[in-house]
Amino acid sequence: MPHQTTTTTPQRETTILSLMLITILPVSTTLPPMSTTLPPVSTPLLPLSTPVLPLSTPPLHVLDVNRGGSRHKLLEDFPREEGDSMYHGESGESFVTSIPFQILSWRPRALYFPNFATDEQCQSVIELAKSKLKPSSLALRKGETAETTKGIRTSSGAFISASEDRTGILEFIEEKIARATIKHITSIDLSSLEAFNVLRYEVGQRYVSHYDSFNPAEYGPQKSQRIASFLLYLSDVEEGGETMFPFENGSNMNIGYDYKSCIGLKVRPRRGDGLLFYSLFPNGTIDKTSLHGSCPVVKGEKWVATKWIRNKERM
Ligand SMILES: *[C@@H]1O[C@H](CO)[C@@H](O)[C@H](O)[C@H]1NC(C)=O
Ligand SMILES: *[C@@H]1O[C@H](CO)[C@@H](O)[C@H](O)[C@H]1NC(C)=O
Repeated sequence: MPHQTTTTTPQRETTILSLMLITILPVSTTLPPMSTTLPPVSTPLLPLSTPVLPLSTPPLHVLDVNRGGSRHKLLEDFPREEGDSMYHGESGESFVTSIPFQILSWRPRALYFPNFATDEQCQSVIELAKSKLKPSSLALRKGETAETTKGIRTSSGAFISASEDRTGILEFIEEKIARATIKHITSIDLSSLEAFNVLRYEVGQRYVSHYDSFNPAEYGPQKSQRIASFLLYLSDVEEGGETMFPFENGSNMNIGYDYKSCIGLKVRPRRGDGLLFYSLFPNGTIDKTSLHGSCPVVKGEKWVATKWIRNKERM
């Protein structure tokens, strides 16, 4: 009788991949103040042909604006660093990406990205927006009118989608923002990104403290919600114009805070730098410490490109 061998199959560990699904629960908290910014008319974004991110941004002269497919040239010219990279899968990339950031605050979750864009890229976005500027508007709540909300948001702005910029710079910046934020969750689907809102604040202009997400208790049910906001400062400001978070780490929440006053954590605009903060907790409720505003410009001019990131496409 042959010797019977029993083979033991090693027990395989089952790895359960938990997807980071963000569910929006009804927000029960009563939220304070002011109106939020008016969402733009949604413009379909052009699908990105090759999502490629550089380690450093290309000089402007590589742009060939006379060619319809200028952005392909832009993408091809990205320097790639193969040195430190790892063997990758078929859907992966052969190069290493580096986007440095600093945590500014955990309450709210706010991150700073120095040198996110180049001076030339910032200037190009300003030039693009200049001719399209209109007074910024607000999404009004019940009982509010343009008259009663006067003075809350005094900047001028323009909504520009990446596909409207033939130089490819906005598409490049959008791709970089997606990489630094939600791309790992929503893959290459950029439909959850709103068009850029490019804003100009002149001396005395400001945006009093507000939330970027829409509290359903005040604005009605929301099919999609703003998770986070990415601000790209397009200019330096000589004085004033800081982005402020009055409730940082829970401070000033019980003092009857005057939404006009500039207190709390202040971020000074620096051309080319980015600021990301989250308006929602991962469970979908609004983070009250994400209240923020733009202090009045005292000297100089402030230019900023805002990108609102939603949990899903706003239809
Ligand atoms: C931040 O807030 C927590 C909780 O309210 C408090 O314990 C802590 O001391 C605060 N940190 C600072 C630096 O004030
Ligand atoms: C959602 O998360 C926040 C932060 O962790 C927590 O304070 C809050 O109680 C949570 N709300 C619900 C409804 O789970």
